[in-house]
Amino acid sequence: MLKRTHNCGQLRLSDVNKKVTLGGWVHSYRDHGGLVFIDLRDKEGLTQLVFNPKTQPEAHKVARTARCEWVIAARGVVQPRSEGMANPKLPTGEIEVSVQELEILNVSKTPPFEIDEADKTSEEIRLASRYLDLRRPEMQKSLRVRHRVAKITRDYFDRLGFLEIETPMLAKSTPEGARDFLVPSRLHKNCFYALPQSPQLFKQILMVSGVDKYFQIVRCFRDEDPRADRQAEFTQIDVEMSFVDSSDVIGVHENLLAKIWKQISDVDVVAPMRRMTYKEAMDDYGTDRPDLRFEMKLKDISDIAKGCTFAVFAKAIEAGGVVKGLCAPAGSEKYSRSDVEKGLTEFVGDYGARGLAWAKVKKENETFGFVGGLAKFFSAEQVQQIVARFGAKDGDLLLLVADDEGTVNKALAPLRCRLARDLKLYDQKAFEFVWVVDFPLFEWNEDEKRYDSLHHPFTSPVPEDLEKLDSDPAGVCSQAYDVVVNGSEIGGGSIRIHNPRVQEKVFELLKISKAQAQQRFGFFLKALEFGAPPHGGIALGLDRIIMLLNGTDNIRDVIAFPKTQRGQCLLTDAPSEVDQKQLDELNLRMQRHSHGIEQPGSSEGQP
Ligand code: AMO
Repeated sequence: MLKRTHNCGQLRLSDVNKKVTLGGWVHSYRDHGGLVFIDLRDKEGLTQLVFNPKTQPEAHKVARTARCEWVIAARGVVQPRSEGMANPKLPTGEIEVSVQELEILNVSKTPPFEIDEADKTSEEIRLASRYLDLRRPEMQKSLRVRHRVAKITRDYFDRLGFLEIETPMLAKSTPEGARDFLVPSRLHKNCFYALPQSPQLFKQILMVSGVDKYFQIVRCFRDEDPRADRQAEFTQIDVEMSFVDSSDVIGVHENLLAKIWKQISDVDVVAPMRRMTYKEAMDDYGTDRPDLRFEMKLKDISDIAKGCTFAVFAKAIEAGGVVKGLCAPAGSEKYSRSDVEKGLTEFVGDYGARGLAWAKVKKENETFGFVGGLAKFFSAEQVQQIVARFGAKDGDLLLLVADDEGTVNKALAPLRCRLARDLKLYDQKAFEFVWVVDFPLFEWNEDEKRYDSLHHPFTSPVPEDLEKLDSDPAGVCSQAYDVVVNGSEIGGGSIRIHNPRVQEKVFELLKISKAQAQQRFGFFLKALEFGAPPHGGIALGLDRIIMLLNGTDNIRDVIAFPKTQRGQCLLTDAPSEVDQKQLDELNLRMQRHSHGIEQPGSSEGQP
């Protein structure tokens, strides 16, 4: 076999006259009757090969048989491309290799899509032939960026004295709030392992063990419906540190993020990064994941709307709700009445809003007025007050939702992002980092009439609120922090409870009984009894970081072998049925349904 001397992205004019050997895949070929051209591809790029029937008849004859995606090796001489034939778009575009010897190393079936035309091919087809899809330069870049980020991370933590420690994949269930993937045990009939939703309890136990500084680039598993930025199987940069407060954890991670962004994208991230309280985020952006690339804050106009004649507003306020809204700059022109009453109203409807009130802002004779929609329900004075509240200008569009505050925020937060996208209010290349802090420890779960942890049950309250655990649980502030970039939550963590009494109290408020706590986390509570140091940590979502760096909003673009929205691997056809023998060994009996597809109301495997 001809052995490679160079890769396909390497050769330049300075290499002219060199004898080289390249190997790769036939990206494209052109047979001009006389000369044959092949663009040869490997992970580094493309190089043009040229075959001349007069000087190298043998190689030319073989070249004429080659087809797309065949694997070839070619030996020849680097020469400048002829006058006017240079391709400025290619780094190797000024040269070509005049081939003297060609070896066909393997043939290929006709691929189901052309590597160049992947964007015109459905994702299902690409995922089913992922080995071809990954040949695309964009995917090769994505794999490289992922590798680089992992390497930067490992080097960074290594220099700071952290140890990377593996924690079990076959584990006991830990509560991150999602459903577990279960693995039946063969040796312990009717017993199951859970795949870890995160290494949370193990990393805390490592602090009890005196490890002091732990990190791990680790796969986590959560049986929840995949979304654009969520996979059932994803990767965290998971960290835990002893004898620290939240500013220590935040400091270490903003420096890591700054390093990653600088080295991968040459973007300077200013540290310390901006911090924002949970309350400020919810009030101004309606979400704890605010996209700060643009302003357009939510404004509460309940105090003004209370006096208007619009029944929907009046009723909502009377019922303890709020009227909040957004002012879309120059939105009057961009959105027609029907855009608002159909498109945008349906949009917020999908997020639970029962309606979307609107008014266009118009300035005439130095006075602001409303046009359309809400205009008739507000006095001139109220209009001035609302315009002032939003800082609205002539031609702006006001969009308002009235309901309980949670519903209003849930609808307006995505609407804010949608408007900003439509109105091109931000620089696509910008990155805005923010730490969201001062979260409440609990949120009330109305359905189950108990508290839920806003993060997870091991998050510590701030010391000054410990007493409120008895008197006012809803008012307790936690020592949790999330890091958000461009509206995407790329990490979250907290200072933990290291006092077993406080941990028990929190379980009590979560209505986890002593017996349940013992059964689920007894091992962990016991460890806390043996000198647990104060500790805290965080997990960064590696996949989401790569998504931001690569500028994609599809998490499947940054994972070599991802699952679809239906949780399937189209390449291997997982999940799939298994042999009866395997089931017997595991003491499992199937309830048979057609094709193994889940039927409503039934569960898959029954022990
Ligand atoms: P949390 O559940 O917030 O915290 O997860 C940390 C970060 O992981 C990413 N992430 C995901 N990425 C892709 N797909 C998913 N399904 C998914 N779920 C989470 C997010 C998120 O911010 N043990 C705690 C961390 C700690 O307290 O130290 C934890 O797992 O970017």
